[in-house]
Amino acid sequence: CGIVAIVGQTAVAPLIVDALKRLEYRGYDSAGVATVAQGKLARRRAEGKLVNLESRLQAEPLDGNIGIGHTRWATHGVPNETNAHPHFSNDVAVVHNGIIENFAELRTELAADGYEFTSQTDTEVVAHLVSRELARGAGPVAAAHEALKRLEGAFALAIMFRGDEDLIVGARNGPPLAVGHGEGEMFLGSDAIALAPFTNSITYLEDGDWAVVRRGSFEIFDIEGKPVARKRQQSLGTSFMVDKGNRRHFMEKEIHEQPEVISHTLAHYVDFTASTSRPLDLPFDFARIDRLALSACGTAYLSGLVGKYWFERIARLPVDIDIASEFRYREMPISQNSAALFISQSGETADTLASLRYCRKAGVPIGAIVNVRESTIARESDVVLPTLAGPEIGVASTKAFTCQLSVLASLAVRAGVARGTISPDEEKALVRALSEAPRYANQVLKLEEQIEKVSRELSHYRHVLYLGRDTNFPLAMEGALKLKEISYIHAEGYAAGELKHGPIALIDENMPVIVIAPHDRIFEKTVSNMQEVAARGGKIILITDRKGAEQATVDTMETIVLPDVPEIITPIVYALPIQMLAYFTAVFMGTDVDQPRNLAKSVTVE
Ligand code: G6P
Repeated sequence: CGIVAIVGQTAVAPLIVDALKRLEYRGYDSAGVATVAQGKLARRRAEGKLVNLESRLQAEPLDGNIGIGHTRWATHGVPNETNAHPHFSNDVAVVHNGIIENFAELRTELAADGYEFTSQTDTEVVAHLVSRELARGAGPVAAAHEALKRLEGAFALAIMFRGDEDLIVGARNGPPLAVGHGEGEMFLGSDAIALAPFTNSITYLEDGDWAVVRRGSFEIFDIEGKPVARKRQQSLGTSFMVDKGNRRHFMEKEIHEQPEVISHTLAHYVDFTASTSRPLDLPFDFARIDRLALSACGTAYLSGLVGKYWFERIARLPVDIDIASEFRYREMPISQNSAALFISQSGETADTLASLRYCRKAGVPIGAIVNVRESTIARESDVVLPTLAGPEIGVASTKAFTCQLSVLASLAVRAGVARGTISPDEEKALVRALSEAPRYANQVLKLEEQIEKVSRELSHYRHVLYLGRDTNFPLAMEGALKLKEISYIHAEGYAAGELKHGPIALIDENMPVIVIAPHDRIFEKTVSNMQEVAARGGKIILITDRKGAEQATVDTMETIVLPDVPEIITPIVYALPIQMLAYFTAVFMGTDVDQPRNLAKSVTVE
């Protein structure tokens, strides 16, 4: 679920809806907004996507300069309007993300006190609890504090009161919640992307914190009610709990975390408010180098391969890329007018570190795209370019990969700006496209059922071929790598155009061919390659978009249709179905998904 709250200067309902759109990747079963105006508490709610709430508000607008809003992903109670947030109790309105674990007990207690429940949600108990404290004579802040003391579970909350048009209480215990600082107005939101249209200046609440937010002030307290100081920051830092939650495997959990961690990572490199790439404090100037060297291992290497396409296309910057175990020994001549970037989730991979040291000796400036900031590779670099994926536990990399892609895409845009190869308008368009990646990633997660079905079929084969062109070529290799790693199916990733130069000899009905082909400029070429496969009895699984599905004139065993997405984010969005295919296939085969045989997460040997 996503939360937005505003104590503002103008009518807030439309602003809240806009902010909620940016949070829709967190769920869109239903949505709602409540405001206080002329001493009245009012709300509009609607089942389904935000557009429904928008038309509701058009028909029946809401006044008020203070308000809270919510987009829901149902946990307790079906996704209908009655269960949609905000929930009311007398003078109190509440929006909630997470689960109140002791809600049944609280519900019984409050019902015995005469409080009537109108929904099946766990959230409603919060509204009634606060309301009961008010009835007992507490002021709004004290009432919220007393209620918070009673709650168990994981939650982020925003609470608003009819009697006070300059007060919202926010609380966090688990799901993220941030205070956004404006000029004479203040905000609360589930993440910086939601708050981006309003402000870049953010204070994250920590677990157990609650905040009293007014137009001109904010205070943060711990659960005892003692004031605590939290840092105000411009970008996102993040902390994650290292457990599986309700998921079967870490890999599954990490696949599902991607909308969130991609958005955190992107927000570090681009300014969603201004739609610009952020200036970086680099030990080199993109405008002055004439080559960039990239090196990494495994999945990180494949992210670098995608990065090569971006740097060369967007910034006209030539890129040399090598697998680190090759780089370290191949004695590549390194131009003094270049820079080197090393990509590593763990920051400890021995071959990558050795490549870094080779470049250090050669005297070129070094940057590290790492997930573990305290790692050796990070420490030995001149600049750390973090991926904000949070701890990745599954041995097969998923979220670190899409975060690496997010960093590389943002850097390529930055390099394009520095080198003057893209105009300010093109920069804006690219950044806007990037900011849509979390939302599309979330839409792709909803294809689980179909992908699970395809995976069941795949699990009956011993060999699989993955094909793609352009940035989908490295992605095809990543898809094949994922299958190998966790399902132990032999898989190869090939450039689709290279099929005819060898692998086509392998095609028969026993070797499914997975083709990654969004409807891009070279779509037709890939369609020809698919025809070559079909003509030889090959079975095709096509991963494409709506336009591609319409125009692919070839019989497929299955077509997985993703949303039409801007070109720059295709590798990020298309990474998800290939991860999911590998995941479900492995589950069907009964392998040890998180700890596949013979592999290790961090390889500190050569
Ligand atoms: C191991 C892991 C891979 C990973 C590679 C590079 O082989 O199993 O998933 O991509 O190392 O690791 P790094 O930590 O440097 O990204």
